[in-house]
Order: sequence, then C-alpha cells, then structure tokens
Amino acid sequence: MRKIFVSPSILSADCARLEQECKSLEKSGADWIHCDVMDGKFVPNISFGMPVINSLRKRIVIPLDVHLMICEPEKYVKQFAEAGANIITFHIESTDKIKQTIDIIRSCGKKVGISLKPDTPLEVLEPYRGMFDMLLIMSVEPGFGGQRFIETSLDKIRKARQLYPDVLIEVDGGINKTNAKAVVDAGADILVAGSAIMNAANRKEVIAELRKV
Ligand code: DX5
Ligand code: ZN
Repeated sequence: MRKIFVSPSILSADCARLEQECKSLEKSGADWIHCDVMDGKFVPNISFGMPVINSLRKRIVIPLDVHLMICEPEKYVKQFAEAGANIITFHIESTDKIKQTIDIIRSCGKKVGISLKPDTPLEVLEPYRGMFDMLLIMSVEPGFGGQRFIETSLDKIRKARQLYPDVLIEVDGGINKTNAKAVVDAGADILVAGSAIMNAANRKEVIAELRKV
C-alpha cells in the first residue's frame, strides 16, 4: 500500500495566528503545509507572498508546499526558494518560460511541481517529461477555497497516473472525507485540503481519515 500525504491549505487559516495554526496542523499529523500564493492577476484573488513563507519556515518543521498562482513565476521562484519553500509548484498556464522556471527551481535545490487548471489537458506536459517531481492537478478553478470538487478531475488523475507512474500526483480543491477515497483510488499521492481541515472541530481526526482512505 502506498503512503498518502496530506497537505492542509492555510488559505482559510486565521492569518493573524498563522504560527499557531501551522503548529496545530503539524501536531495534528499534517505531512506538509500547502501555501497558496496568489497575485490578483493569474487568479482573481490575492493572498500572501515570500515574507510569510520566510517566517513560517523558521517556526515549523514539516515541508512547505508552495503553490504559486502568479504570472511570470520565473521572476519570483528564486525568492520563494530563498524564503524556505521546499516544493515549488507553478502553473503551466502562467508563463511561456516553463523550462527556465524549472531550471531556476532546480538550481536552488528545490523540488519542482507543475500545476494544471481543470481545463488544461495533460498533453501540454509532454515536452517537460522527466523534468518535474510533482504534478498538481487542480480539481477546482484556482483562486478560492471552499469550492465544489469537479468530478471529471477523477478521469484526469487516472490518466495522469498512467502517463507519469514515477511522478508524485497532488490534487487540490474541494477534497473532503467523502470524496478522498475516489481521489486516492484514481492515483493521487498527496491530498490538499483547506476548508475540510481548517473548519473542522477536530483537525487531527480529519487528517487521519483523509490519509487512511
Ligand atoms: C485554490 C487553492 C486551494 C484551496 C483548497 O486556488 O489552490 O489550495 O485553498 O481549499 P479547499 O480544500 O477548501 O478547496
Ligand atoms: Zn493550492
């Protein structure tokens, strides 16, 4: 049986208490902390940037899984690496300098993730085969937490699993205790969950349930 990782998203955390929120997630069994970076351009929402990553890196132990939803990521990935991101994921739709972005992340010694929006087909990844460690499949339109899981994502996850057997597959958006099993059965290795974990009375229980499906 393969190990499933849970990466809680802090997009819906209490930002004034981010340290306590992350420590609570760490204590509750989170494997990684998923940090959603938004620029108000690639997505119609703004969240936080490198200073937050930098402060969190000094205070928590588990890896920071940084999901960049920003235009021209090639201009910023080095700063996110220096701030302490462990895995840096950018959107294939966000730049025409994909190879360059991958190379910068790698040269900083970080893991490379590529993300696809729900309507972006897997075929666009083919030229970059062998160059990324993780594929992040969005199961909602990026920009906001608390949206409904798009069911057709399951077919995309299955297909991705077949095409890229050695790449980690992370799925992000609308994941909860009810649909996690289907997502894992389709081939996901890492489940991102924001509202399902952050709004739960018992975060530890939800994380454990998501992981054991
Ligand atoms: C959406 C973000 C997600 C989101 C997950 O753009 O990338 O990480 O916060 O939140 P839920 O689990 O509530 O969909
Ligand atoms: Zn995300």
